[in-house]
Amino acid sequence: MKNVLVTGGAGFIGSNFVQMMLERYSDLNLVVYDKLTYAGNPDNLLPVAKNPHYSFVEGDICDAAKVDEVMRRHNIDTIVNFAAETHVDRSLMEPGGFIQTDVYGTFVLLEAAKKYQIERYHQISTDEVYGQVLEGRSVETDCLHTRSPYSAAKAGGDLMCLAYYTSFNLPVTITRGSNNIGPYQYPEKVVPVFVTNAIDDKPLPLYGDGRQMRDYQFVLDHCDGIDVVLRKGKIGEVYNLGTGSENTNIELAHLILKLLNKPESLIQPITDRPGHDRRYALDCGKVKSLGWQSQHNFEQAVEATVKWYVDNEGWWRKIKDGRHYQEYYQRQYAGREVNK
Ligand code: NAD
Ligand code: TYD
Repeated sequence: MKNVLVTGGAGFIGSNFVQMMLERYSDLNLVVYDKLTYAGNPDNLLPVAKNPHYSFVEGDICDAAKVDEVMRRHNIDTIVNFAAETHVDRSLMEPGGFIQTDVYGTFVLLEAAKKYQIERYHQISTDEVYGQVLEGRSVETDCLHTRSPYSAAKAGGDLMCLAYYTSFNLPVTITRGSNNIGPYQYPEKVVPVFVTNAIDDKPLPLYGDGRQMRDYQFVLDHCDGIDVVLRKGKIGEVYNLGTGSENTNIELAHLILKLLNKPESLIQPITDRPGHDRRYALDCGKVKSLGWQSQHNFEQAVEATVKWYVDNEGWWRKIKDGRHYQEYYQRQYAGREVNK
């Protein structure tokens, strides 16, 4: 691993990964390849902008000619694919872009990986591909029972990666991470929506009964797990990455309000998300055998995240003040309030 193409590296997890890897290793060159959709933000990469081992190329993973050019020009030996449309609620509004990027875009990258016979293709996937898990925990060999256009598209990407391993011997690995929280998360996902709304004394829109459960992990723990799998993971294998414990959204809302010293009356129940998965839960035993485990529990991860949003108001206000965000927020939340 020397010249790494980080697709989707201007987004939330990708930018944390790039910063972490450049701090950790002085012998790696990282090339971020990103379309800069609404979720891609050059500000996320400002801390590494002057690093001589970092470069940025604006481009779409569905653009095979441009992907080919970047592979050749930078002598890429490893692809880590974070690029995706990622928000479940948006996938309910406009699923087409999810199929295009998360399935077709993955195929384009796999073809490039095959052509250039690279050392490793690593796919960033999600616990959502297992579908909701009402009891027990998902292991990597479980069947995929996706229920949203987002998770179905991600599952399509995973299956294409495994097909390239089986059919063409491509050196593929996949990680399936649980919900990430931390610096630079676009304020459409639940934690930055709740934190930034609470700071402004605005309602926290809680879907349905708020008893859905997620495994909220700190983003840098997830990035560390990806690095462990890149270095020690077995080719052709899938690894779950999470804390291995879950909390409800109502617990999340209470903790955020407590940390910010805001009243619980800010919690505003709203009509539920259609097809809302009740619970995701991962068995992370397989990756533990590689020596990785999450370093932050739920409270620590939420506390570190809240602190970052308090300390970095300029980052999220620039997004929230923009027309794109305000139109999205209106479309997503207006008129959904139900009586408390
Ligand atoms: P994000 O939405 O913050 O960022 C996605 C990035 O991909 C953006 O920079 C965007 O510009 C880029 N992108 C989108 N379409 C592209 C295209 N066609 N070509 C090139 N770039 C494109 O997402 P995130 O939360 O950082 O998630 C990154 C990856 O991790 C995704 O694959 C997601 O499915 C997966 N994942 C996310 C979570 C989570 O909790 N956020 C959990 C598990 C897995
Ligand atoms: P989200 O951050 O969208 O991640 P995902 O649906 O991919 O797990 O949502 C996390 C949980 O929070 C999920 O159960 C839906 C819920 N949620 C709310 O209650 N209110 C919100 O405004 C959002 C965005 C999510």
